[in-house]
Amino acid sequence: MSLQPLRAALLLSASLLAASPLMVVAQNAYAEAVAPWMDRTLSTDQRVAMLLAQMTAEEKRLLVFGYASGDQLTQFDPSVIPGLNTKEVVANVIPGSAGYIPGIPRLGIPAQFQTDASMGVRNHLMPRTSLPSSLATAASWDPQVTEAGGRMIGTEARLSGFNIMLAGGINLLREPRNGRNFEYTGEDPLLAAEMGAGLIRGVQSVHVVSTVKHFSINAQETGRTTLSAQISEPALRMSDNLAFELAIERSSPGSVMCSYNKINDVHACENEALLTDTLKRDWGYKGYVMSDWGAVHSTVQAANAGLDQQSGFPFDKQAYFGEGLKRALLDGSVPASRLDDMVRRILWALIDKGVMANPVAKGEIDFEAHHRVAQTAAEDSLVLLKNDKALLPLSGRKQILLVGSYADKGVLAGGGSSSVSPVGGNAVTGLEPKGWPGPVVWQPSSPLKALQAQLPKARISYLSGDDLNAAARAARSADVVIVFVHQWAGEGFDVSLDLNGQQDELVRAVAKANPNTVVVVESGGPVFMPWKDEVRAILSAFYPGARGGAAIARVLSGKVNPSGHLPLTFPASEAQFVHQDLPGGDLPPNSSFTVRYTEGAAVGYKWFDLKGYTPLFAFGQGLSYTTFRMDGLKAQAVAGAGERLAIDFTLSNTGAREGKAVGQVYVAAPKSAGWEAPRRLVGFRKLSLSKGQSQTVSLTVDPRLLAVYDEATSEWVIAPGTYEVQLGAASDDIRTRVKVTLAGQRFAARQVKAVP
Ligand code: BGC
Repeated sequence: MSLQPLRAALLLSASLLAASPLMVVAQNAYAEAVAPWMDRTLSTDQRVAMLLAQMTAEEKRLLVFGYASGDQLTQFDPSVIPGLNTKEVVANVIPGSAGYIPGIPRLGIPAQFQTDASMGVRNHLMPRTSLPSSLATAASWDPQVTEAGGRMIGTEARLSGFNIMLAGGINLLREPRNGRNFEYTGEDPLLAAEMGAGLIRGVQSVHVVSTVKHFSINAQETGRTTLSAQISEPALRMSDNLAFELAIERSSPGSVMCSYNKINDVHACENEALLTDTLKRDWGYKGYVMSDWGAVHSTVQAANAGLDQQSGFPFDKQAYFGEGLKRALLDGSVPASRLDDMVRRILWALIDKGVMANPVAKGEIDFEAHHRVAQTAAEDSLVLLKNDKALLPLSGRKQILLVGSYADKGVLAGGGSSSVSPVGGNAVTGLEPKGWPGPVVWQPSSPLKALQAQLPKARISYLSGDDLNAAARAARSADVVIVFVHQWAGEGFDVSLDLNGQQDELVRAVAKANPNTVVVVESGGPVFMPWKDEVRAILSAFYPGARGGAAIARVLSGKVNPSGHLPLTFPASEAQFVHQDLPGGDLPPNSSFTVRYTEGAAVGYKWFDLKGYTPLFAFGQGLSYTTFRMDGLKAQAVAGAGERLAIDFTLSNTGAREGKAVGQVYVAAPKSAGWEAPRRLVGFRKLSLSKGQSQTVSLTVDPRLLAVYDEATSEWVIAPGTYEVQLGAASDDIRTRVKVTLAGQRFAARQVKAVP
């Protein structure tokens, strides 16, 4: 078929966008006639096959090789990609963005414009709206919250000219010191998957491809490019990879990003067991695997193991999927069928997610509306950890003192490739580090100003807290003191759980001066709180996003009833860590080392249960200004391919005001089941309940959450026996239990059907 008419048709189509609906229909029909792969009545697979058949070898290679943006691009030798003009790439890449892959206009294949990341469009040249950190929104325990957030950031991506978002970080919080924990969705595979899937669905709902990452077990930043994560196959399938498997099923991301680290001595981006056997064969994944920026180390091994697109050149040492792949295809070390498969997968994502049919167009962003989305997300996510003598909400208090952490100016955000430049500018400039992974960003949403607006009758003042004596003195004459503490975390480094500087001393000095002390914690992940028993209230805000200050003020004042629950465990001390010393922490940079994840799938609360440790705050904790009853628990085994559990329970609001309850269902297995730990979270539901209201919830437990992985047969195995189903408001606040007997079953790990 001659493609000239298509070109003409597509050009015509663009010029007709503003034409009458009738003309557009006629135009689309014409485009579909000459470009049958644009026909939306055909399946994605059919359309991909038609389009692939039109492509030359050179065009195919073009799609599997991605460029970074920025100065690096102008420095490399254009001959590494024959036929490609560097100037053309430099001219088209969006400045300050993550990356770019040229399109193929003659076939209507759009260029791929890539942007970071899960909290919003990250670009130092483009101020955009930041959601709360992913760990924060995971604390909402409500996938609708992350879905709304995903839709908002996807919309900003699209209006900024991007069609690929590197959004969807879901690595399990295995290492409490991991500097990127804030980019992920907590320590439990089911919760992490559900919350990450919400975000991905939201991004993709506006025809932007989303990227679940970093596949896999990228659990710490120290030595991230040189370490090998050592873990057994069953443990991996039952923990980090279970999160990826469930998230992929529930959201169908167009792409998966393989991580920097090695897994069992093989780099993730050239790991056949991971990319081909697990992801593509067993999970039936149809999208493409893109590398993290600088995570490729070979051509033949990576290509044959299942990597589909090298990203961000020249972050890698060589153009492995450029000139390297061309040579490998010529000498047959990478079969042509593999190149076809890479391209098929990329086209599948572009067509299936509607990127091809809905070209991006830059446009105006409704920042006010988008900031409201970010604020609502924060309001649903803040976690009230302690509230002795109902100190909060603050209503009726006349004199309130705020202390510390620039609470007069803004709220903290995490650093690195996910750091969104705030609309309105950085509220606190000049802090170290100014360079990567800085600058340290404070979102310009002042808790002080927001609280003053919420409580106009109160006298509310602020002190920096630099002078402990002055803070203590001022605290004495206040009705309530709110101390803000913070921990900055970011990409490329890990953190201590001890708050830096004299923040602990500040809390203690204030609490000693005034028992009515509230602490608001802005952190990347868990922190130690040696003063926990000395203060009356603690609110965990993580990094609360573009309107975090407003959300904090509305929760403190009582306008919003807190409903977040911890998606992670806060350890009480380092003695409770799996690794007392941070693996590789004592080695010179760039050393290779192995991290033995001997805890296997016993991550987070599972580890604490196994060891009998009492944490500082347990997984699932979160208080409300109202009270809830949780009862009516019923559990019934449902036979079928993959034994399931049908669960019913009732949540009732027994307090004096409306509120949101999270019913958390855990299952404890008999020892004979061989679980990694005594219990697992198997389901949850968040409900908004008015005063006195009750509602019944029914949910079905995915059979994989009841099973262990049998490596010898590649099957999931549910052991027969009596299991205990627990319903509670937190992992350490179980309200009711029932027993259920499971017959036991084995089912193939290959393409398990998602629970309807
Ligand atoms: C990060 C990724 C990010 C990529 C592109 C890498 O440093 O690990 O999460 O998407 O850079 O900016």
